[in-house]
Order: sequence, then structure tokens, then C-alpha cells
Amino acid sequence: MANRVVIGSQWGDEGKAKIVDFLTLDADVIVRFQGGANAGHTVEVGDKKFVFHLIPSGIMHPTKVCVVGNGVVLDPIQTLNEIADLHNKGINPEGRLFIADNAHVVLPYHSALDRAKEKKAGKAAIGTTGRGIGPCYSDKVNRIGVRVGDLLDEKELRPRVEAMAKVHNEEFRMMFDAPEIDPEQVIKDYLALGQKIKPFVRDVSDFLFAQVKAGKRLIFEGAQGTILDVDHGTYPFVTSSNTVAGYAACGSGLGPTAIDQVVGVVKAYTTRVGNGPFPTELLDATGDKLRKIGNEYGATTGRNRRCGWFDAPVVRKAAVVNGLTHLAITKLDVLDTFDEIQICTHYECDGEKLDLIPNQLSKVSRCTPVYETMPGWNASTTACRSWDSLPENAKKYLMRMSELVGVKIGMISIGAKRDESIIIDMD
Ligand code: GDP
Ligand code: IMO
Ligand code: MG
Repeated sequence: MANRVVIGSQWGDEGKAKIVDFLTLDADVIVRFQGGANAGHTVEVGDKKFVFHLIPSGIMHPTKVCVVGNGVVLDPIQTLNEIADLHNKGINPEGRLFIADNAHVVLPYHSALDRAKEKKAGKAAIGTTGRGIGPCYSDKVNRIGVRVGDLLDEKELRPRVEAMAKVHNEEFRMMFDAPEIDPEQVIKDYLALGQKIKPFVRDVSDFLFAQVKAGKRLIFEGAQGTILDVDHGTYPFVTSSNTVAGYAACGSGLGPTAIDQVVGVVKAYTTRVGNGPFPTELLDATGDKLRKIGNEYGATTGRNRRCGWFDAPVVRKAAVVNGLTHLAITKLDVLDTFDEIQICTHYECDGEKLDLIPNQLSKVSRCTPVYETMPGWNASTTACRSWDSLPENAKKYLMRMSELVGVKIGMISIGAKRDESIIIDMD
């Protein structure tokens, strides 16, 4: 089997974790390579439901190895909560969970700054998850960050936290009228957290390289989605990492030659959490119906997800910037009771036909989606386990999605559970 990158092709929450959990049946090692606890990845197995924020969803399979790569921004408190939750549910991650010693650490300065900036921005707020993601990545690039390995040695940690505290406490005082955070307390708390995560910490790049050489099968689990990518998304209404497939290599310490397939997870309609443009958004009863049936409430923040029709210019963009080889189409079952389904084939903008969502925000806001109407199927798809057993109109809808995007369908998901999946062509 190939080494696969599984990424979101829209604005996140496409059902990546469900797909990763399913594809893990056929893999050995699962790697998170970017983002942080802003992600909310839901996996349902039997009657158990797990929401992962940092640990790869492959951990549910007791024989698989999971890795948190250098491209992730790690909140150690959240990591330890997830480890405790796994133990409570009878899953032991010890000996098969590894965390990169060169991943950056989300500190209390980052979450406080995230919230203070959002509050100050008022109407211009991005609508972040408040998990400190942007400030942590900023400090990384600004070369004043703290890395996981630093938590294991006070000589490394102390000067870095002191330097960071100087910068951010001044910001709290001068710009945000927010309370300062005592570096001594942070040093004490994070050294203690470091000791707790120590058994999991190592150079993961070296480990992964050996796995690739040994012919082990890897899955790279993306977080967020392509249109939240800091370069390719609706900037500035994006997250602060590269969410695209190309980053799987960089964020896990491997070269791009380790990747064979790029699976774009695509919801059969579109959702977005947080602020920013969304051309096919439905602010009416149809949008409410999608939200209700699709249970579209954020797995991290509980916020209502904004809902709309499938948007081909968005997923075409994902096909281009990720080099998608397969589509994994999720939540088809959510459309089971719609008489008609709209599909946005392209945009009209300033008298031009656009096939891809544009990079400039002002241009996106001038785009009018052009729709094609397709008949619904008014039948339950949840029990379907093969292409042939799907209703004819569901097949037509899926084929139209694939045709518009120019990428073949690898698999289809018709329910949240592991077995509610149909493999079409994953070669
Ligand atoms: P992720 O962030 O991309 O992993 O997605 P989330 O977990 O945030 O959101 C997807 C939601 O849809 C979760 O509650 C999943 O359990 C659920 N889900 C995934 N696939 C399907 C599907 O095919 N049908 C239905 N009805 N729910 C699904
Ligand atoms: P998963 O992995 C959906 C959104 C936030 C906000 C923007 C920036 O579950 O698909 P951030 O906290 O990252 O600085 O917020 O990005 N966002 C997500 N939306 N799914 C996610 O992750 C997201 N992670 C961040 O709502 O609009
Ligand atoms: Mg999610």
C-alpha cells in the first residue's frame, strides 16, 4: 500500500478523522504534521466516540504507531488530557505514541494573546478557536519560541521563557490592558509537564525515515482544510499553518519522496466555522436543515458551523494546490432527504467565469456562485456498502462532483462509524 496524505479540501471538518480511522486499517504509522489543538477530529467506533485535538486518530487501533510531527504546535496540557482520556476508554498509547522534540509548544502567553487580539479586533476578528495557534506559530517564525525538547531541561527552558515573557508581557501591558503572566510560574509548570510527556518525546524524523525504509505504510493526517491554509486560503481568514499536502513532508521531517497518494477529504456539501467569505453559504432554512441533519456544531468550540452547497471552485483549488490523487467524499447521507441539491459549478466575478476560488479576499467577495440543480434521491444511503447499492441519483451527484473537480473518487462515507464506508478505487 501507498503512503497517503489525507487532507481537508474545504474549510475543515470534512470528516478527515473518520477517513483516517478507516484507512488506518491498512497502515502502520499515522502522523499529524501541522496545526494544533484547534483541530477537532471525531472518531466513532462501536458505541464509543472520541474527539482528538492533537493525537492522531489512528491511536484507536491498538497495534498502530502514532506520531506528532515537528510541524504541529503542541499544547502539553491538552496532550496529557487526551492520553488520560484514552486510558479511561481502555486504550494504552504508551510505547506507540511519539512526539517530535522539535515541535513548538503552545504556552499560556499564546492562548492569552490569541484571545486578547481577537477581542481587540472587534468586527475584524478572525473567529479563531482561541487555542493560541497564531501566536505560537508567530513566535516560531520569529525565533523566540519554545520547543518540546526544551521542556526537558531547565537550562534550555528558562532563558527562552524569560525572553518570551519580556516581549509578550509588554504587549499585554501596553496594547491589550491584559494581566501579565509570571514567567517563573510558567517555567515551573512546564518543566513539570515536560517530565510527564518525556516518555513520548524523541527525534521523530529519524524514526519515520527508518519506517519508510522498512516498507511500513504511513498515513499523514492533515488538520483544518485547504482554504484555511495560510498561503492558499482566504487570507487573513485562515489558520496560521500550511494545511496542504506538501507540508506533510516538512512537518514530519521527511522528504516529499515519502508520499505516494494525496487523498482530499470532501464533504458532500460545504461548511465553515469562524469568520470570512463563504460564497455558497445558505443563510436560510436549507442551511439550517444541513446543520441539523449533519450535526454541524464545532468539535473544538461547539460553535454553529456555517453551511452551504458543494462548491466546485473551492475543491478544484484543493485539487491544484495539493495535487489530489483521490477524493474521499463524506456525509453523503446528510443529503438523503433533499428533493433537490444545488452544486456550484463555477463563479462569476467582474464579468469573468472563474473555475477556482481567487486568492484576493476582495475578489472572493465579488464572486457569485453559479449553480446547477440536481435531483435528490430521497432514500437512506447509510446501509449501502457498495457503489451498485447506492441510489441512481446519488451516483449521478457523486460522479458530477468528481467530474467538476477532475479527481477520481477513492471512497465514500455514508455515516460516522468505521464500517459506514464504501471503497471505490484507492489504487
Ligand atoms: P474532521 O475535523 O475533518 O476530522 O471532522 P470533524 O470530526 O470535526 O467533523 C465531522 C463530523 O461528521 C464528526 O462528527 C464525524 O463523526 C461525522 N462524520 C464523519 N463522516 C460522516 C458521514 O459520512 N456521515 C455522517 N452523518 N457523519 C459523518
Ligand atoms: P479540523 O482539523 C474548522 C478555523 C477557526 C478560524 C480559523 C483560525 O477539525 O478540521 P485558529 O484557531 O486556527 O487560529 O483559527 O480557522 N479553524 C478550523 N475550522 N476545522 C478546524 O480544524 C479548524 N481549525 C481552525 O474557526 O476560522
Ligand atoms: Mg474538525
